[in-house]
Amino acid sequence: MPSLQDTLNEIVAEMAAQTERGEVASYIPELGKVDPAKFAIAVVKNDGEVAAAGDADEPFSIQSISKVFTLALALGRVGDQLWSRVGREPSGTAFNSIVQLELEHGIPRNPFINAGAIVVSDVLLSGHQPREAIGEVLSFMRTVADDDSVIIDRDVANSERATGFRNFALANYLKGFGNLNHAPEMTLGVYFHHCAVAMSCLQLANAGRFLANAGRIEETGHTIVSSERARRINALMLTCGHYDGSGEFAFRVGIPGKSGVGGGILAIVPGVASIAVWSPGLNARGNSMLGSISLERLTKRMNWSIF
Ligand code: DON
Repeated sequence: MPSLQDTLNEIVAEMAAQTERGEVASYIPELGKVDPAKFAIAVVKNDGEVAAAGDADEPFSIQSISKVFTLALALGRVGDQLWSRVGREPSGTAFNSIVQLELEHGIPRNPFINAGAIVVSDVLLSGHQPREAIGEVLSFMRTVADDDSVIIDRDVANSERATGFRNFALANYLKGFGNLNHAPEMTLGVYFHHCAVAMSCLQLANAGRFLANAGRIEETGHTIVSSERARRINALMLTCGHYDGSGEFAFRVGIPGKSGVGGGILAIVPGVASIAVWSPGLNARGNSMLGSISLERLTKRMNWSIF
């Protein structure tokens, strides 16, 4: 059997040959500047093996992947009370959709669609200034990645604030239903900044270790969440992590995953490995096109599907 490193090298070569790479997100102008030819993959196994190929040291905007980490933080803050404000069902709609919010009385379907993640940001803001809540998210990312060089890209956060009309609409709508405790612009300040965290695939794969390892990071000795919570976050990633593309991702790749419009995907093989991929071009559902294809090939070749 080829080694993990050989498999990643093979996948990088195969992806370099792909001509159809999807569309780079341009609704956040700063993201539209990224080179669509970039590609990276990194795997950190629970047994300590690390393998990476392509542009795996190059930071990119993690965008919605950050919602996995803000969810973990918010659950740490308020526990299961969170579920009175956010659901746990796949939405079957786009990440920025507003349609269900009216019908479902301002309770977003899950914490990964934008509306749900804005509620999660509102939880993180409780008792804090936006600056402190943003600092807490950044310091959590540095802890789980075990790397103090992780930063928030302020140009991306400002670019999104300047053009985030749909998110302002969602936040105002949530506020109208009484499901936002702070002023929409304050909560969105937290949301835009956590979406603008920039990380490389190696950093992101490291950041996912606790989800692959029942809540613990062996290398640092930190317990990040309980094993039950890690299992539940993985379940939400599987069912909701790719929005209206979640069924397709489970069908093809077969493991929990969370995508971002920066073209990254964090994928977890519970008990085995944490994986990060990055290819900026997106498919029609706003998920990384080559990121999904490369994960499908990796899980098939390594026999990593959970099914
Ligand atoms: O709110 C937004 O639109 C972006 N900050 C995040 C969206 C996103 O990453 C969706 N993922 N595929």
